[in-house]
Amino acid sequence: MRRTIDWDGDAVTIIDQTALPADYRVLRLRSVDTLIDAIRRLAVRGAPALGAAGALGVVLAIREGGDPVAAAERVAKARPTAVNLGWGVARALEKLDQGAEAVLAEALEILNEDEHLNRIASSHAAEIVLAACDRRPLRLLSHCNAGHLATVAWGSALGVVWHLHERGLVESVLVDETRPLLQGARLTAWELAQAGVPYRVQADGAAAAAMARGLVDCVLVGADRIAANGDVANKIGTYGLAIAARHHGVPLVVVAPSSTVDTSVATGTDIAIEERAPEELRMFSGTAITPADADVFNPAFDVTPAALITAVVTEHGRYRPSGQPSSL
Ligand code: MRU
Repeated sequence: MRRTIDWDGDAVTIIDQTALPADYRVLRLRSVDTLIDAIRRLAVRGAPALGAAGALGVVLAIREGGDPVAAAERVAKARPTAVNLGWGVARALEKLDQGAEAVLAEALEILNEDEHLNRIASSHAAEIVLAACDRRPLRLLSHCNAGHLATVAWGSALGVVWHLHERGLVESVLVDETRPLLQGARLTAWELAQAGVPYRVQADGAAAAAMARGLVDCVLVGADRIAANGDVANKIGTYGLAIAARHHGVPLVVVAPSSTVDTSVATGTDIAIEERAPEELRMFSGTAITPADADVFNPAFDVTPAALITAVVTEHGRYRPSGQPSSL
């Protein structure tokens, strides 16, 4: 599969995630404004992919002329929760005084690192999952999309599935549809189908019942921001999953590159949570599904306390809340 986000020498290219699974199409983004729009519409999404988008946004900002720092700040603020977006912008901006070529080289380095780091993080996480679960093959539960499409390539939480599937250790994956934007039903299911991994899509509300029936050996999720104490902001619904998983004795493992760890925030309560447009809940596939003026609560993310998480895993191994990533 091509990279989710890349640079073709003249434009940022992205796989348009608003069109999948019906259409596989690639967009070319040549301006800061079109990149910001793509980020806000979730045409490119997922914390690690947003890190790459942030860095490439600085490349576009320089090519446009004007004040690249101001334009880069607009990119960094396009969405508030995933720390990787601002991290990618900041890392590219550090090279600004060395010139446009140095900024581009740094952005391309972030893209190159992404697959490598996610492969390592998910490999560490696979060993933790195997140690935490007795049953073979495994029945896993996934929320949102933390696969190839959420990264430059490979994936974080879904990367664990790829590693375990290669070893014949996955029976099936229960895929939370992930309302309201259906990243699970549309994107994770598509990736699992491409890879030939057996899966079933379920309504988000079915997850606790699946655990109660003993159908889930482990919950695997990604992260948008990990606080110093190990609290994790991730797609809305993760917190509820974690409560259900703890109640049923099911391990919940979080997988992310270390660029998702933000030690500048002490706990999850300090993480800004994006609130999205009411139309995302009032409409479904172009049809109104609520009274037109229904009030809506639509946070895109929630915070899962560290106490409910079995392990947070990065390329350095298990993240220790002291802020010191350490070996397994
Ligand atoms: O709103 P999204 O689709 O950008 O949310 C994405 C998630 O919550 C993912 O789980 C997270 O970014 C980790 S992706 C490896």
